[in-house]
Amino acid sequence: MRAPLDTAAVSAALRPHGESVMLPAAAYTSDEVYAWELRHMFAGGWTCVGRADELTAGPVTHRALAVGDIGVLLTFSDGALWAFANVCRHRGHELLPLGGAAQRRAVACPYHGWGYRLDGTLLSAPGFDTPPEGLSLVELPVTTWLPADPPGAVRGLPALVRGQLGPRRPLGGRLDGPARRR
Ligand code: FES
Repeated sequence: MRAPLDTAAVSAALRPHGESVMLPAAAYTSDEVYAWELRHMFAGGWTCVGRADELTAGPVTHRALAVGDIGVLLTFSDGALWAFANVCRHRGHELLPLGGAAQRRAVACPYHGWGYRLDGTLLSAPGFDTPPEGLSLVELPVTTWLPADPPGAVRGLPALVRGQLGPRRPLGGRLDGPARRR
């Protein structure tokens, strides 16, 4: 999808060196362009959200952050790593405030108390004898990554997340396993 910029003005900026001109001012100042970049450049591609050892320090079991304009809930359990949309499947409440972290064995929605296991499956739903099926958290692609030939000693694996909604299948990375890219 193209950025909301004047095509002719962008073409002029892409001419060979010596003929090119600056990007149009809107590329630097437009709220519309900024929103486009958050959604399509940052949420639409892999974003490094930090070192896995620092993200899990505490030990934290889940934390909330933003990837582009998408709220993401990272969860950690027994060396596994998952990323989900930070949205409850009941009425869509935010599960954990942006920037927050928790040290619990389950994710608790603050609105009506639905609970989710750290792998995203629904654990409990007050008012239901058995939790409704098919209402696991919406999973996002996540992995830990190292370059094939890392320079010097590397103390922690970077954790990478895509903010775009991913396929509904387990994609969780391993915090202690070999580097993988998805
Ligand atoms: S919105 Fe989360 S439990 Fe109702």
